[in-house]
Amino acid sequence: MSSSPITVAKNEGSEKLMPLASQSRQIVKRAVRLAGALSMPGDKSISHRYAMLAALAEGTSEISGFASSADCASTLGCLRELGVGVERKDAAVTIHGVGMAGLRAPVRVLDAGNSGSTIRMLTGILAAQPFRSSIAGDASLSRRPMQRVITPLTRMGARIQAQPGGLPPLEIEGGSLHPIRYELPVASAQVKTAVLLAGLFAEGETEVVEPVATRDHTEIALEQMGAEVGRHHLTIAVRGPARLEARPLRVPGDISSAAFFLAAALVVPEANLYLQNVGLNPTRTAILDLLVSMGGRIRVVNVEVINGELMGDLHAEAGPLEGGEIPVEMVPGLIDELPVLSVLGSQTEKGIWFHGAAELRVKESDRLKTVAENLRRMGTEVEEFPDGLRIAGRQRLRGARIDSFGDHRIAMAFAVAGLAADGNTTICGSDCAAVSFPEFFDSLRAVCDS
Ligand code: S3P
Repeated sequence: MSSSPITVAKNEGSEKLMPLASQSRQIVKRAVRLAGALSMPGDKSISHRYAMLAALAEGTSEISGFASSADCASTLGCLRELGVGVERKDAAVTIHGVGMAGLRAPVRVLDAGNSGSTIRMLTGILAAQPFRSSIAGDASLSRRPMQRVITPLTRMGARIQAQPGGLPPLEIEGGSLHPIRYELPVASAQVKTAVLLAGLFAEGETEVVEPVATRDHTEIALEQMGAEVGRHHLTIAVRGPARLEARPLRVPGDISSAAFFLAAALVVPEANLYLQNVGLNPTRTAILDLLVSMGGRIRVVNVEVINGELMGDLHAEAGPLEGGEIPVEMVPGLIDELPVLSVLGSQTEKGIWFHGAAELRVKESDRLKTVAENLRRMGTEVEEFPDGLRIAGRQRLRGARIDSFGDHRIAMAFAVAGLAADGNTTICGSDCAAVSFPEFFDSLRAVCDS
């Protein structure tokens, strides 16, 4: 009889735990079969944007498929604190928009939790408010760089105080802003969004020029809600003062969450997996292009467009992967998928290597370091560069104690590694998966057999 290869670890008093292991552990064993159909949680990036824009709109927006992620709950919490009426029943969220001038000065420090998107994007809105506000986050967020939003927003006329090194918490003295043309020094959809959101309040045209195209959910949502948005190659313009209109919104499943299951389907010997209603916005599907170019058996079916966003179902089957170099121009489009791609690299013919990913060092953990460290614990040969990794192919993974380092994508990537490893892989600090995908381990259990 088959059984699940994933179990929750019991706390045994005699066992010595690693620092982050105290909260939670999951044990993952080799899987021989992975089959079934799953729905992914709502897209995290889109949920943040829909919530913020619906808050600024006139009227009530019903959002379905809202992300279950803790990060998006942080955004809703901040909006409530700013006087926005938010009701939630599971994935159905109702936002009573207050209009562009309706936010209220918060009484408390706004809590962005672990969420870089919440603090950076919301700072764009707070910069334009006629009140002071403070926004802070957890220990991991307090180490992440905010100068990238402070620089353009200051140029627009806001006054923002950060901690030494441009770190959170931020004290924002908002006010009347003027439009700017801003050339992003680093590809970042969060920074692009912060400037565009601020631009909605500035009189005239605010322009952002990207070094390479990043996810364009903000631009699409703004157009859907009636803002004037101009797009020309890598330049995006918004005209302020804008007026946004409430509307029903449906969030597609998160392709960055689906990536863990696609990778699982490619490392388990017998796999046949169907993922329903996944977001297929072309600025997010580099993961599909890359896996298919390496020989992955993935098909896209039932494609439709909802609120300007593409979505559809994915069908993935087991099969060998060739591996190879990830072209540097694809890296920004794969930024959240690189941890699981690195794990996958160890199971390919040639291995996987990439450069141009220094941004990974300033995510929820230093992902180049935490991926390399955990892969080595599993016996894989890894070379770490300042801006990338080289993972040897055809590696026999051995079960090990993995540290999530409090980073959701590390916890989930190494659960996938555990499915292809000898012995037990213990994911210490596994609870952090809830930052983007609270149902991750249950979903994995539902489709895996050992
Ligand atoms: C996001 C943009 C990316 C990504 C993050 C979500 C967004 O960050 O890594 O998970 O929703 O705009 P950067 O803007 O820092 O690249």
